[in-house]
Amino acid sequence: MGKKITLSVIKADTGGFVGHSSVHPELLETARGMLAGSPLLIDSYVTHVGDDINLIMTHETGKDNGEIHQLAWDTFVSCTSVAKKLKLYGAGQDLLSDAFSGNIKGLGPGVAEMEFVERTSEPVVVFMADKTEPGAWNLPLYKIFADPFNTIGLVIDPKMHKGFLFEVRDLIENKKVTFSCPEELYDMLVFIGAPGRYVIKSIFQKETNEIAATSSIQRLNLMAGRYVGKDDPVLLVRCQSGLPALGEVLEPFANPHLVSGWMRGSHTGPLMPVPVEKSNPTRFDGPPRVVALGFQLCDGKLLGPQDFFADPSFDLARQKANEIANYMRSMGPFEPHRLHLDEMEYTTMPEVSKRLKDRFVKMRLSYQ
Ligand code: F6R
Ligand code: MG
Ligand code: MG
Repeated sequence: MGKKITLSVIKADTGGFVGHSSVHPELLETARGMLAGSPLLIDSYVTHVGDDINLIMTHETGKDNGEIHQLAWDTFVSCTSVAKKLKLYGAGQDLLSDAFSGNIKGLGPGVAEMEFVERTSEPVVVFMADKTEPGAWNLPLYKIFADPFNTIGLVIDPKMHKGFLFEVRDLIENKKVTFSCPEELYDMLVFIGAPGRYVIKSIFQKETNEIAATSSIQRLNLMAGRYVGKDDPVLLVRCQSGLPALGEVLEPFANPHLVSGWMRGSHTGPLMPVPVEKSNPTRFDGPPRVVALGFQLCDGKLLGPQDFFADPSFDLARQKANEIANYMRSMGPFEPHRLHLDEMEYTTMPEVSKRLKDRFVKMRLSYQ
């Protein structure tokens, strides 16, 4: 058996340029310099989606490795210093702690890591989103790995026909459960249809138990105990040869679904697929964006990227997203454009309720 490679993607918003729309080039240069100088890594690629910096790294030290997490943390700390010097917006906003203590999880940044023996050919896709939350991947992951109308390989590829195992996390009660699909599809949908709470963490090939996909599940508000920005998640997917084909992996994004996290982390909007250069949310701080970068791994080297959503075959998805965005915006401050009270990052409800407390007249029954 060949040696194991770990693909780690760690992301954080260390300051926006301008507002919460994008990342200043000096921050990207700083991050590139930090990673390029590290003897720990086989290879690295630094990019951004909206105001989030994404560190894509390969190494041989496994998941949750303290030194890799320290490197990512130090990189974000350096980017924060530059952001402060340039007075960029919200400098260091995702770094919830002053001190690193061995694992970056729980300190603010989002983390997705997978460890595997590189196959003869190893195509991977790194998805990165801005202005949304980890549960945004539930619907596309369901389509990629469980829906034959999206993934014909589930029907006609003998290596995929048995299906996949889905590890789902309950982010509120800190529990995990694994569903075997297709047999348990209906049970699983009861949970993953509520993406604010139940999030698909990882997916495994049933035949081989090989890791096929993994996502970042960190929710900033649950870590900080208060709302401090949306989580802007990442997702890693391996493709081909008994796993979904590249085109099956990208296909769900041709129909923009509604996700939470637009304007002030408090609105619903369509997830628009875009290339990196178009990933800077502007209109009403959005609409939420997703970028997909493809790499061929070659002994841990990251060959690429291919910027998949630059393809004109996603033009109609963008148009549809903009039409949905228009429609959703027409609802202004009303749900379901505005998120449910429990999910809003910003709220004046406690303050306004307190002020108006004495004006609310108690009724005996609600239908009186
Ligand atoms: C940030 C985001 C933005 C901000 C909004 C207000 O990721 O989604 O919509 O929430 O621009 O930001 P502040 O309160 O920093 O002025
Ligand atoms: Mg920001
Ligand atoms: Mg962001």
